Amino acid sequence: MQKNKPDYYNNLDKVYIKIWELLIKGLENRNAPFHIPIFICGNKNKVDGRIVVLRGVNEKEKKIWFHSDIRSNKIKIIKSNPESVLLFYDKEEKIQLRISGLAKINYQNDTTHNSWKKTAHMSRQCYLGDKAPGSTIDIPSSGLTENIDNLKYSKEESEFGYKNFCVIETFIKSVEWLYLAAKGHRRAYFSLKNNSLEKKWLIP
Ligand SMILES: Cc1cc2nc3c(=O)[nH]c(=O)nc-3n(C[C@H](O)[C@H](O)[C@H](O)COP(=O)(O)O)c2cc1C
Repeated sequence: MQKNKPDYYNNLDKVYIKIWELLIKGLENRNAPFHIPIFICGNKNKVDGRIVVLRGVNEKEKKIWFHSDIRSNKIKIIKSNPESVLLFYDKEEKIQLRISGLAKINYQNDTTHNSWKKTAHMSRQCYLGDKAPGSTIDIPSSGLTENIDNLKYSKEESEFGYKNFCVIETFIKSVEWLYLAAKGHRRAYFSLKNNSLEKKWLIP
């Protein structure tokens, strides 16, 4: 084993453990790079990526999720093609993850109800605009009233946002790992399909 190499350097099982550790860290620590992955989805005419906030990780059910506005453009794309990717990079750890899976849009169900209950007052602001995200406007605007811009709304008033709120879960099919090392990168692939775990090394 090389000096100064992490213990997972040549060990697929430890890489897999590290993946879930980094996801949990990203979930719990808002300053962790894994807190804000890029969610990528597309159809045959268009592919697009955008930053989202990681809101949930469930290793047992092999899924991760984020919150969104049901009126946003990505919803139409996911409905036409749920195949999607969450892309993560941690500069200090020198680790890139490409998590591929099927996106499921939860809207006005138990999942959204439970998540909405836990959303912070400030986070609800995003769901309190009259117009859909991405709508064109004549003048520069947040799309919110001045009171909402200034977080002057009661908890009760914030309930209005629930009708725009959704939770997008990604049911993971595979994870591709890349670790950058000065002397020898490492790349690994994990297939999580059908409740089984297959793992293999790839040439970086
Ligand atoms: C730091 C940061 C965090 C964001 N978090 C989310 C999020 O959790 N959910 C979300 O839908 N959009 C989030 N956005 C906004 C998206 O990047 C994107 O602009 C928005 O979702 C509209 O994308 P769409 O038109 O492709 O649907 C975030 C943006 C930034 C810069």
